[in-house]
Amino acid sequence: RIARKKRDFLRITDLSREELTELVERAAEWKLLGKGGPRPLDRMTLGLIFEKASTRTRVSFEVAAYQLGGNAMFLSPRDTQLGRGEPIRDTARVLSRYLDALVVRTFEHAKLEELASQADVPVVNALTDASHPCQIVADLLTVAERFGQDAIGREDLSVAWIGDGNNMANSWLEACARLGFTLRLACPEGYDPDPALLAQAGRHARVFRTPREAVEGALVVNTDVWASMGQEGEAAKRIRDFAGYIVDDALLAAADSRAIVLHCLPAHRGEEISEAVLEGPRSVVFDEAENRLHAQKALLELLLAG
Ligand code: CP
Ligand code: NVA
Repeated sequence: RIARKKRDFLRITDLSREELTELVERAAEWKLLGKGGPRPLDRMTLGLIFEKASTRTRVSFEVAAYQLGGNAMFLSPRDTQLGRGEPIRDTARVLSRYLDALVVRTFEHAKLEELASQADVPVVNALTDASHPCQIVADLLTVAERFGQDAIGREDLSVAWIGDGNNMANSWLEACARLGFTLRLACPEGYDPDPALLAQAGRHARVFRTPREAVEGALVVNTDVWASMGQEGEAAKRIRDFAGYIVDDALLAAADSRAIVLHCLPAHRGEEISEAVLEGPRSVVFDEAENRLHAQKALLELLLAG
């Protein structure tokens, strides 16, 4: 058996600054190509192992694989032996004999890392409790579309993160560390992002305790649910703890007048974001959702044909 050199995408910082910049540029090219363009995944098959629900990530990866000339197979843990306790390391080695890449959504990030260490094929993080890097590539494309490709590499681009210091916030921290834009987070006490990632971002990131401070001068205002998948039992407590953290028109008035609003979706209207903002003229959330497809085409091309 000939070992293939493989490359994983488990976090944003698995890419260099240049690679991340080029990935976003390439995603924009894939967007222009629509359903056309090259088919770098000819005869390749992706395996999608999802231990949490998904609409956007699952569908965009499946469609991306087909449009790139390959195939995708959804593997619910309920129906595979993983759900009956077959070890990850065995699963990873077996699936590597059939598949060309694994796209994995799970809870503990360590589980994803174990799978990646045992798999002979590229492993892509489709969300863990700790990070959501594929979403951030699409988000960077969405920002680049509005403010220019150069903007994402500039310190004077200010991105506000309002709410939970969760998987999304962590991946944004990695992105600002790589690209050098400014990230201003507003998180209630006890809900800060990963301190190691905050330290890594250095002067590019800062945590505030009020949303108003974070959005000052921001060109991008970004939020996410207060209770992520797996935290449903804490929802009521979190609604109390995040009081005042809603992204609404009053908060947006403190941002740059050109500011756009991002939300990875699904959204809870009236909690982290108002109906008026989500459906209003600043919101680019459906472009952002569409961009998952284009971003993932660029990513699959990089990992499987690059
Ligand atoms: N934003 C996102 O990852 O959505 P899904 O949970 O629907 O995949
Ligand atoms: N933080 C959210 C993102 C969903 C795409 C969650 O983990 O549920």
